[in-house]
Amino acid sequence: MTDILVTDDGPVRIVRINRPEKKNALTLAMYDAMAAAIEQAGKIPAIRCLLIAGAPGTFCAGNDIGDFMQAASQGGALGAPILRFLHALVACEKPLVAAVNGNAIGIGTTMLLHCDHIVAGSDARFATPFVSLGLVPEAASSLLAPRLMGHARAFALLVMGRPLAAAEAKDAGIVNAVVAPADTEDAALQAARAIAGLPPQGVLIARRLMRGSVDDILARIDAEAEQFKARLQSPEAQAAFMAFLGRKR
Ligand code: COA
Repeated sequence: MTDILVTDDGPVRIVRINRPEKKNALTLAMYDAMAAAIEQAGKIPAIRCLLIAGAPGTFCAGNDIGDFMQAASQGGALGAPILRFLHALVACEKPLVAAVNGNAIGIGTTMLLHCDHIVAGSDARFATPFVSLGLVPEAASSLLAPRLMGHARAFALLVMGRPLAAAEAKDAGIVNAVVAPADTEDAALQAARAIAGLPPQGVLIARRLMRGSVDDILARIDAEAEQFKARLQSPEAQAAFMAFLGRKR
């Protein structure tokens, strides 16, 4: 599996999305590999922080749209690997840092709402075109985005599908720092190392207190998934997927 690269840099586990030829769109196998890397990190005391990164110039173009079409033809349920990945993100008790260059679309943005520290390149762009694709928000974004940025900004992002540039995402409070694209990973790695150097029990307890109820987040993921299942099979979604996949034919 080379589409997800997992490397440990001292106490920092780097989980890299690496399918640049498809703009890092996530397949079911990739969700499984990311989930496994996160779950396993939880069991290794020496790992104190995780860093999620993309490929040069592209963080993640969201779920693979071909996979969405296949899921729709098989009843519409989100694949088990997707839910496994989302549950792993929520269950993860180690701080999550992200380095974002280029596009972060769909789950490429919503996974970031679970992170603790995000460094974006000035070329980063955050977008969740769920509704225009005939879908609904996922990954507990309907709960976390309004919490983090307020209802009005979350509505523009999640429902109206208005993208956020890096500086706008920082203003909205979902990004910590905006740096030159070439410096993104270094800055994120420095932050991850700084977190990893803190007293681990203090980090664990502070983070638990700040995140609130994990059960609420898991319940929202499941409630969204139920709606998503129906939407995936809707004529609106089917038409949007066909339009995307047929663009160049
Ligand atoms: N699923 C499947 N394939 C995808 C994909 C996705 N989510 N995103 C990109 N790709 C593929 C393209 O089909 C293309 O494949 P091809 O070379 O075999 O034709 C390749 O990745 C490159 O994408 P392209 O669109 O040519 O690159 P771009 O730089 O012009 O645009 C994006 C990049 C990310 C803006 C654009 O690909 C895009 O909008 N992707 C869809 C994002 C999306 O809606 N995701 C779902 C959210 S729920």
